[in-house]
Amino acid sequence: MSYLEKHGVPKVALNFINEDHEEAARLTSEINLTITQIYTGESNKGLISPLLDRLLHHKRSHFDKEEASMLEAQFPGFPQHKQEHNRLIHELNSLINHWSLYQDIHSLKTYMNEIFPLWLKTHTVTMDHAVAAFISPNKRNGY
Ligand SMILES: [Fe+2]
Repeated sequence: MSYLEKHGVPKVALNFINEDHEEAARLTSEINLTITQIYTGESNKGLISPLLDRLLHHKRSHFDKEEASMLEAQFPGFPQHKQEHNRLIHELNSLINHWSLYQDIHSLKTYMNEIFPLWLKTHTVTMDHAVAAFISPNKRNGY
């Protein structure tokens, strides 16, 4: 069981970020359940690519929202934060390419069970927390 499944994603002071992170955690759990079922023969590898595409699409639209909020608020850490978003999208694209070439279930399991959940937690408590703390005093109800 990953950190996300045990504890969820840490909360920040902007609701749209928390809601998007819940969806990312839900998609991660679905991918990890499918990986487990592939190991036990209850599922097949063909189900993985559509799920990874959904995760990539979700992260892209989430990052677009966050970046629009940062620009609107003139958040000073915008360039570094956007660079980290770009790096994660590049990493997910590499993961998807690797999967489509090799169907390597062991490396996918390591990424989805350990690396991605740890990234989501760390990014949330550092960069997203800073953005939310900067923006939220000017917003009602965290939106
Ligand atoms: Fe972020």
